[in-house]
Amino acid sequence: MARRNIVVGLDIGTTKIKALVAEVGTNGQVYIIGVGETPSRGLRKGAIVNIDEAVRSIDLAIEKAERMSGVEINDVFVGVAGPNISSINNQGVIAITGPNREILMDDVQRVLRTLRMVGLPAERKIIHVIPRQFIVDGYDGVRDPVGMAGVRLEVEAHIITGSTTYLQNVHKIIQSAGLKLLNLMVSPIAAAEAVLYSSEKQLGSILIDIGGGTTDVTLYDGGSPWLTFALPIGGDHITSDLAVGLRTTLVEAERIKQENGCVLAQLAPENELISAVAVGGNGVNQVSRKKIASIIQPRVQEIFALIREEIEKSGYRGILPGGCVLAGGSVLIDGIVELTQEELQLPVRLGYPEGIGGLAEVVRSPQYSTVVGLVLQAARNYREELVPEGDPLLGGIWGKIRSWWREMA
Ligand SMILES: Nc1ncnc2c1ncn2[C@@H]1O[C@H](COP(=O)(O)OP(=O)(O)OP(=O)(O)O)[C@@H](O)[C@H]1O
Ligand SMILES: [Mg+2]
Repeated sequence: MARRNIVVGLDIGTTKIKALVAEVGTNGQVYIIGVGETPSRGLRKGAIVNIDEAVRSIDLAIEKAERMSGVEINDVFVGVAGPNISSINNQGVIAITGPNREILMDDVQRVLRTLRMVGLPAERKIIHVIPRQFIVDGYDGVRDPVGMAGVRLEVEAHIITGSTTYLQNVHKIIQSAGLKLLNLMVSPIAAAEAVLYSSEKQLGSILIDIGGGTTDVTLYDGGSPWLTFALPIGGDHITSDLAVGLRTTLVEAERIKQENGCVLAQLAPENELISAVAVGGNGVNQVSRKKIASIIQPRVQEIFALIREEIEKSGYRGILPGGCVLAGGSVLIDGIVELTQEELQLPVRLGYPEGIGGLAEVVRSPQYSTVVGLVLQAARNYREELVPEGDPLLGGIWGKIRSWWREMA
């Protein structure tokens, strides 16, 4: 029997651990064959606070995914995020000295390596160096300089770093769960792979993933990421605001948020009343949907104010005609598209993972954007093993620097 080409994505979120098993067809199509999801323990605001609990959660999610897919999982492609992630854009330059001044793959690797030399403090580690463009003898906008002639090769790249301790802990929990970490990818970049169209990336657009404990953001411009960051606020803060505001338990607040939540007070009816069990089990309170929305709205507005502040701080001067795409579990709340439009003054849509077959319907929700992006990227890397010239979809250079990416991860 032919060997099955299996890839596995593992999204370690603060609320949920999601494992996704996919089979890569001979045509390169990605077929989802199993999903495993468990509440995430041992993580807070994107940091690992209890190794043993985190390992147990991963074990469970993997076990579920194995049962559903009927395959044994060994290697995983892992998504990481959280406020410890940050990004910078940087430039590198080298002289081309080879015969005929032809730019070789070695030169590309050399110029990319100069970016690793940037003075990083010991507590930070590079996760991705994503070339945005190459410049050959002053001519910019080059995607793949290999084979061109020149004397000076420059690169502009988006560099994403994470805290060394956090990354060490991720390696540790994956290893303790008996798995091999094939590659690491920053969550919002993975999510963008699943939900952003290339035209949106090209025009300039922003992906906002509002999860449980964090909000992860990546801004694309000219086809590549320009800014990546994460905020330590997410849907769990909305739940605790509701628990306080309605004097109810966290469990009840979570239920009310999911069943009756709305982020725009003006959209929520005053006369529709919802029962909320009072804290301590002391009876039941009646609250209007308007009141619920008026508690949720300021928290979500706070998230957008912080996003605007980060973009401002970054010095980004584009206008993002590609608009905003929303991902993560917290964007399932009513009114989020309208509120985001108002807050960012951009066209907004919800991101539904695309580019997959098989049990695609099971993961057709914004909260699976990251994990679907992880299997798409894992599948792409897998295919590149078979296509030495690299993935034609991404252009030759990406395939060629694949091994170098691996080295970075
Ligand atoms: N229907 C819903 N309405 C509102 N919020 C929801 C709904 N369903 C899920 N959520 C919220 O989505 C959040 C979980 O989203 P997600 O699964 O994307 O998070 P995560 O990846 O585990 O966390 P993070 O990305 O912050 O590490 C929780 O706060 C949950 O309350
Ligand atoms: Mg997440």
